[in-house]
Formats: sequence, structure tokens, C-alpha cells
Amino acid sequence: MKISTQEQQIIKDILTHAAEGTTHMLDQVMENPVSKYTDPAQLDAEINTLFRNFPIIIGHSSDLAAPGDFLTHDDTGVPILVTRSQDGQINAFMNVCRHRGARLEDAPCGKARTFSCPYHAWTYGLDGRLRGMPQPFGFDTVDRSELGLIALPVFERFGMIWVVPSVQEHKMDFDAWVAPMQEQLHGLDLGGHVVFRKWSLHRDMSWRLALEGFQESYHFCSAHRDTACSGYLDNQSLCLDFDPHVRHSVPLPSVTELKDQDPETWEYRPHFMTQNYLFPANFVQVMTDHVYVHTIIPTGPGTCVFQCMMLIPEAPTTEKAERYWQKNHDLIRVVFNEDFVIGEGIQKGLQTGANQNFVFGKFEVGLHLGQRAIDAALDGSLRVPVAS
Ligand code: FES
Ligand SMILES: [Fe+2]
Repeated sequence: MKISTQEQQIIKDILTHAAEGTTHMLDQVMENPVSKYTDPAQLDAEINTLFRNFPIIIGHSSDLAAPGDFLTHDDTGVPILVTRSQDGQINAFMNVCRHRGARLEDAPCGKARTFSCPYHAWTYGLDGRLRGMPQPFGFDTVDRSELGLIALPVFERFGMIWVVPSVQEHKMDFDAWVAPMQEQLHGLDLGGHVVFRKWSLHRDMSWRLALEGFQESYHFCSAHRDTACSGYLDNQSLCLDFDPHVRHSVPLPSVTELKDQDPETWEYRPHFMTQNYLFPANFVQVMTDHVYVHTIIPTGPGTCVFQCMMLIPEAPTTEKAERYWQKNHDLIRVVFNEDFVIGEGIQKGLQTGANQNFVFGKFEVGLHLGQRAIDAALDGSLRVPVAS
């Protein structure tokens, strides 16, 4: 596959840094108030803005492969029901009955023709329409068409299902939102991938601490000394600022072999791990031959949930292939856990007052960019683009 101009430039920049003993840096260090990690009012604002008005990945297309498939999702604090209707369309609704508010569907996933409320058996179609109720004479003056499930914005793109967990006045232009990432994400064909493993972890750390673990590689050779350190060039992160998203490229040592080769013959993927940050809390972490898609969601002050799926190009057909992917899975679980143990330790120390501010180094570029985007969303200057 021909390398993109963007990837060619990333390689050129990394080779220059490696040759000159430099790394990608900003002009200044940045101080970030520790109160942002502890203040409950700050967290409320983050939940109500970042986790209500921006798209969150909640599954892979194959989770809803056929009409009638559904899944429920609750970790954002909003009970969400996602369905694939007969026309193949993906729909997202509040998982809340319009009669008197009962939770409509309790199963994490399954197959259904209709959803029948456990309380008084009002019934809804896969498209959210109110289809029927027992003893309708008691509601004969009510307009049923007004009592469909409340729809949430949902998008099926790049093989993933993205939901905005609140009712929006205007239709979001999702493609404009992800435009700077489009070429790269599209090229990965994640929709053609298979979910090899999927897991969800509740951790005792601010969602921000979990997020930051993926925004710099300065920590690799200490926090991941025996695991990821040797796999990458030390502290050679290159961040492309696609405000509010970030393409964070971390080179493997093998990238230096490219310096003697014709740039037209270069390949990007075998020489990089790419931590793509898609605001506010989604990562598409591209390894040389597989991909982790993760989303971090706050569940309270000092707690969060980390949801991850491991995508592989095709289902393993041999024991050897199964073992190979399982080994990758087991290793990444160890690496992620190294980050989370440190994050939980940070969380415990936050209240001590030891730090009024955290200091982001000049080369911890992803932290600067991520924080800038969060601040912009909170002050209202960052919003999703609206479809015309
Ligand atoms: S609350 Fe759902 S049918 Fe009554
Ligand atoms: Fe890490």
C-alpha cells in the first residue's frame, strides 16, 4: 500500500529526531492544576459536557451484525439501548419506557423483534416506535406517535458504533468531526476486523489519569521497563495536532532502518504504534498487526471505567494463530495494568496537597493538547460541528 504523505512526513521527522538526538517538543512546560483531578464540580462539568455532547465509542459493528441485534450500555450514566433495525440501520435510544420510565431492556446484548417493558408491557419496535400496549382504551386520547423511545445520536463509522449520550437539538456532522483522522482510520478497515477479546475494568482513578497514560511515551522506560520499553524508541513520541483529536505516533526501533531506503518504498505500520486520540475519551491504538480500541469514562470522583476491544484482521483458524493473539492480549493487559496501578497510586496521593499543579514537560505534547481540548469543551469554545 502506498504510504500517505502524512505518514511519510512522520517518518522523516522521527528520523531527524533520532539522528540529532532530539524529540518533538513544544516551547513551554505547562502547569495543570491538581484540582482538575479532584474537584467534584469539575467532574460534573466534564460529565455533563464531554460525556453528553461528544461521541463515545460503545461497540464494534459486529456486536450488532444482523437486524434485531441489540446491546445496552450504562457506563456513561445514561441508560442506552442500541439496535439494528430491519433496514440495517443502527439506532440508539434512552433505555427508558415512555409510560412511567421503567428500564426497558436489561440484557447486555441479544436479539429481539420488539422490546416489551417489564412494568406494564408497552411494546416498542427496533426503530423505537411505540407498537402497542395492553388495554389501550385507558390511553385512547394519547398520541402514540409521540411516545416512541427517545433517540440519541448514533453513528456507525470505521467499524465502530459511536453514541452521543444526550438528546441534541442539532444534527451532528460526524464526518466533519473526524475528518482529520478519516484517511488513516478508513485505511485500517476496522469494520472488516474481528473482536478477539473485549473487556471492561473499573479502576480507582480519575478518568483523566487513565487518559493521560496514552498521551505520552516518556513513561515507557520506567513504568513499562520490563514490557513495552524495549519495543519503542525511548521518548520519541510525535503528536500531530488535529485539534481536538491527536495522532500520537510512537516509533519502533526498526524505523531507523528506513533512513537508507527510498521514501517511496517506506511503510508506516510495521514501524509504529499509533495512539489515536479521538476527543473526548476514545483511543484507536494501532499496533503493527492489530488494533485496540478503548474508551475511558468517569464513573465518579476518582473512579472510571476502561473499556477495550482487541481487533484482529481475521478470526484465528489455527491453534498457533489463537496462541499468538492470546499472547498479545495477555501482554497488553499487563502493560495497561502497569499504567493503572500507577494511576491509582497517583489518585491516592492527590488529596495530600503535595502538588498544587502537575507539570507537563515540553515533550509530553499529547498531555498539553488533550488538556487544551478538554478546557475548550468546558468553556464552550469546542463543540461538535453541526450538519447543514
Ligand atoms: S413503565 Fe413501561 S409499560 Fe409502564
Ligand atoms: Fe503506559
